[in-house]
Amino acid sequence: MTAATATAPTTTAPPTTVPGRAGRILAVASGKGGVGKTWFAITLAHALARAGERVLLFDGDLGLANVDIQLGVMPAHDLTSVVEGRIGLAEAAQLHEGGFAILAGRSGSGSLSQLEPAALEALLAALRRESTRLDRVVLDLGSGLDRSVRRMAGFADTLLVVATEEPTSLTDAYAALKLHAADVPAGEARVVVNQAGSRAAGERTYATLARACRAFLGRAPALAGVVRRDERVPDAIRRQTLFLTRHPTAPAAADIEAIAAGLMGA
Ligand SMILES: Nc1ncnc2c1ncn2[C@@H]1O[C@H](COP(=O)(O)OP(=O)(O)O)[C@@H](O)[C@H]1O
Ligand SMILES: [Mg+2]
Repeated sequence: MTAATATAPTTTAPPTTVPGRAGRILAVASGKGGVGKTWFAITLAHALARAGERVLLFDGDLGLANVDIQLGVMPAHDLTSVVEGRIGLAEAAQLHEGGFAILAGRSGSGSLSQLEPAALEALLAALRRESTRLDRVVLDLGSGLDRSVRRMAGFADTLLVVATEEPTSLTDAYAALKLHAADVPAGEARVVVNQAGSRAAGERTYATLARACRAFLGRAPALAGVVRRDERVPDAIRRQTLFLTRHPTAPAAADIEAIAAGLMGA
C-alpha cells in the first residue's frame, strides 16, 4: 500500500469487491415503489441486448404489470395466458424492436397477484427451462415484499436491489436484502443506487446500506453500479421510448451500460 492510499479519506468506503459475471436470471427488486425498478429493468435488458446477449424481460410485477406500458407496446399475449395454460411461455414472449424479448404481465389483473404458490412454482419452472436458451432473463419485480416477490427474488441467480438515497428506500432495500439472505443464504445480491445526485453521492448511499448489512447480516452485497438522476428519464418514459435509443449520450445511459458490462463480467 502506498502512502497515498494509506492516507486516503475513508469516510466513503469505496466498493471494494469487483463481483464479476452475474447469474443468468436477474431479478430487480426494491421494496419501495417508485424508485425506478421498471425503467431500470427495461433499460438494462436493452443494454444487455445491445451488447449481444439474448435477453428476455419478464414482467414479474404480478399485481401492477407495466413494462408494456412504459414501452408503449400492445402485447398479443401476456402472463395470464401462460398461467392459464393456454399458451407456452416461449410463445407468449414477443420480440421488441430493442432486440430483446418481452413477456408482458397484465396491468391491474387481480388473478395474477393472487397466484397460488403451486401456479407460481410452475411458472418459474417454465421460466428456468426457457432461460437455458437465453443468455439472460431480467425479472422486474413488484414493490413491497409479499410472498411472490420474495419467492421470485430468491429464485433469481442474482438479485439486484434498487435503492435511492431516500431513507425509506434504504430501509426497504435493507429489508429486501435481509429476507433474501434468510431465504437463500448462499444467494447473490448486488445493489443499484438509482436517481443519485452524482456518482460520489450514489457511492455514499451504497456505503450506508453496505454498512448496515455488514453489521446486522454479517455480509454486504456488492455494488452493481450507480445511475445518476436525469430529467431525460421521465421524458423517455412519457414518450414510451427506449432510453438508450432516445438519449444515447445521457449520463444515465452511460451508467446503465457500465452496469450491464459489469454484470456480463466485462
Ligand atoms: N435515473 C433516474 N432519473 C430520473 N428519474 C428517474 C430515474 N429512474 C427512474 N426515474 C423516475 O422514477 C419514476 C418511477 O419509475 P418506475 O420505473 O415506474 O419505478 P418502480 O418500478 O420502482 O415503481 C418514473 O417516473 C421515472 O421517470
Ligand atoms: Mg415497476
